[in-house]
Amino acid sequence: MPGRVVPARLAFAADGTPYSEAYGDVYHSAEGGPGQSGHVFLAGNGLPARWQGRRSFTILETGFGIGLNFLTTWQAWREDPLRCERLHFVSIEKHPFTRHDLEQLHSRYPALAAQAAELHAAWPMLVPALHRLEFDSGRVVLTLALADAEKALRELRLSANAIYLDGFSPEKNPEMWTPAAMRAVARLCAADATAATWSAARSVREALSEAGFEVEKKRGFARKREMLCARIDARRVRARSAPQAGERRAIVIGAGIAGAAVCERLCARGWSVTLLERQPERAKDDAQAGVFHPVLTPDDSLFARMTRAGFLHALVRWRALEAAGHDPTWDECGVLQLARHEGEASAQGSALAAMAPPAEYAQYVTREEASAHAGVPVAADGLWFPTSGWMKPASLINAQLAAAAGRLEARFGCDVARIAFERDAWRAFDSGGQEVAHAPVAVLANAADALRLMPSRTIRIRRVRGQLTLIPETRIVAPHVVVLRGGFVLPAIRGLSVAGATYDFDDDDPAPRSSSHEGNLERVDRILPGAASAIDPATLEGRVGFRAVSPDRLPLVGALCNEDAEAPKNPLLATLARQPGLYGAFAYGSRGLLWAGLGAELVASLIEGEPLPLEARLADAVDPGRFALRALRRAG
Ligand SMILES: Cc1cc2nc3c(=O)[nH]c(=O)nc-3n(C[C@H](O)[C@H](O)[C@H](O)COP(=O)(O)OP(=O)(O)OC[C@H]3O[C@@H](n4cnc5c(N)ncnc54)[C@H](O)[C@@H]3O)c2cc1C
Ligand SMILES: C[S@@+](CC[C@H](N)C(=O)[O-])C[C@H]1O[C@@H](n2cnc3c(N)ncnc32)[C@H](O)[C@@H]1O
Repeated sequence: MPGRVVPARLAFAADGTPYSEAYGDVYHSAEGGPGQSGHVFLAGNGLPARWQGRRSFTILETGFGIGLNFLTTWQAWREDPLRCERLHFVSIEKHPFTRHDLEQLHSRYPALAAQAAELHAAWPMLVPALHRLEFDSGRVVLTLALADAEKALRELRLSANAIYLDGFSPEKNPEMWTPAAMRAVARLCAADATAATWSAARSVREALSEAGFEVEKKRGFARKREMLCARIDARRVRARSAPQAGERRAIVIGAGIAGAAVCERLCARGWSVTLLERQPERAKDDAQAGVFHPVLTPDDSLFARMTRAGFLHALVRWRALEAAGHDPTWDECGVLQLARHEGEASAQGSALAAMAPPAEYAQYVTREEASAHAGVPVAADGLWFPTSGWMKPASLINAQLAAAAGRLEARFGCDVARIAFERDAWRAFDSGGQEVAHAPVAVLANAADALRLMPSRTIRIRRVRGQLTLIPETRIVAPHVVVLRGGFVLPAIRGLSVAGATYDFDDDDPAPRSSSHEGNLERVDRILPGAASAIDPATLEGRVGFRAVSPDRLPLVGALCNEDAEAPKNPLLATLARQPGLYGAFAYGSRGLLWAGLGAELVASLIEGEPLPLEARLADAVDPGRFALRALRRAG
């Protein structure tokens, strides 16, 4: 979501009910929030009965507020022995409370204390985005759209089974109840969708009817005489991509950070996965480490929003891996992004002013402040990302594979030469023509090689060489935090400070070379003046890797196209023919650490027909079909 988030201000009405001064209304009935949630929203939507025995059930809420509906629903789900396997609760909020205020508010509802504490621990940074939080081992998924409802309803991709309409009253908060808002809600309905609200206002009733709901009045909560319950007219529901039917088995090709993340996300959903990797063994805990931090641009570009989404998701997932006892090696030590020149300094300033993010996300620092963070003198002022840092990719891969272990068969030394869809399954063959695995779903997570397995006339991926330089801490006073300025230099990790990285087009040389070290030392000198000038590049070790880079620098994540099918009359991403059950998660360019986890969650959500973890514009921006669509539009 673009824009900025303005948090709510905590206040109470005379009777102690949480109150919004901005809207002049209370957050829930004075007769009790949880009671209202149970009567109006749960019972009004036939819950818990309607979610019982289902694999997945999706609730959409307009107005997260203090989260009482969420907490009450989650509690009812926990207490229900027949609960659905996975409960998605997607809620929209323009003015979220800070964690501190939520803690204060929730202390008034002791019966919800256990869930409330978990929500507080997971509460995200208040930046505009879709935030996906998981509870109860991922069986309860809260997706929070921190944005204006009008925008958010357009950007959500989901099929809701139940809808909680919970804006402030229609007189005080009309934009939450307009006919356009109700039409937008109707567009997000599954065929069995119901809706409920405490409001019985005629304008709401009419807006719901016009949008395609059959509406009835029911007895309201406590002293309220009436409330509204509604059911969508199933004939008006547009067919959406259904979850993959049949066996929940997949092949994943490639055990880099992309493939390992896909394995983890699919196995967490109960899938059985065969992972095929050409390297003889799993990634070793190497000296290699990479940086993760969001990008800020004055116009909050799609690229910047993708980095924000990836960053937020990565933090959630990596912390969850640790909480589950796995051991990725990383540090949220903070990242300084120093301005390279006047123009960049002014762009950084404009970006901060436009977004006004919380200090824990990003802040401006002078050169002196930056040097204090770094513990060594740095070259310029810039941005400080206190919760960003570095990660060792091999440790992340191994943590994800360990998390997936019970449902994962990982085969190393298995080079896939060809794939084909035969007899209702994707089949992977080795160079001798032997089938090595088959499954109804396959995910290509093998970087630039994906296009060899599924050739495309429209997608172009470049392989760009990159070399890292490992500087022993005896030869450099390493910073305490990651510092970037064109290149990057990391704090010393087990005696080595990683610096980089070269960006070498049309260069397949897999061996580290002195000239690349020289370039990296120059990069370090531009970050920490004079720090690397005395180091002899010929004495250093390094690591070489290859980035897979798409023309728009965004990854390719989603269903792969069938370019041989007849072109649709009305070319749209939604009308392009896709390969049945074949997905891609590749071309992560220089941002694999940020994007691989989010990409995996997107692929798993697409396969399962679940609410997408990304806004529609971002999901479209990474859709592998975008290049075929552009080609069709150019041709037509
Ligand atoms: C020098 C350098 C520095 C970088 N720094 C950063 C950084 O600081 N932060 C960041 O976020 N990103 C960084 N990146 C980018 C990041 O490393 C990549 O985005 C990431 O590694 C991509 O992961 P992947 O799993 O998509 O691809 P890969 O890591 O390339 O993994 C693909 C896997 O597929 C396997 N494979 C390929 N074809 C087949 C086949 N046919 N059959 C079986 N297996 C196959 C390969 O062996 C490989 O293991 C850097 C990259 C380089 C080169
Ligand atoms: C009645 S409260 C919701 C109470 C909440 N469902 C709960 O369980 O605590 C209404 C919420 O709608 C939010 N809101 C109002 N206008 C909005 C808009 N245009 N877009 C998104 N949220 C909005 C308010 O900030 C407020 O938090």
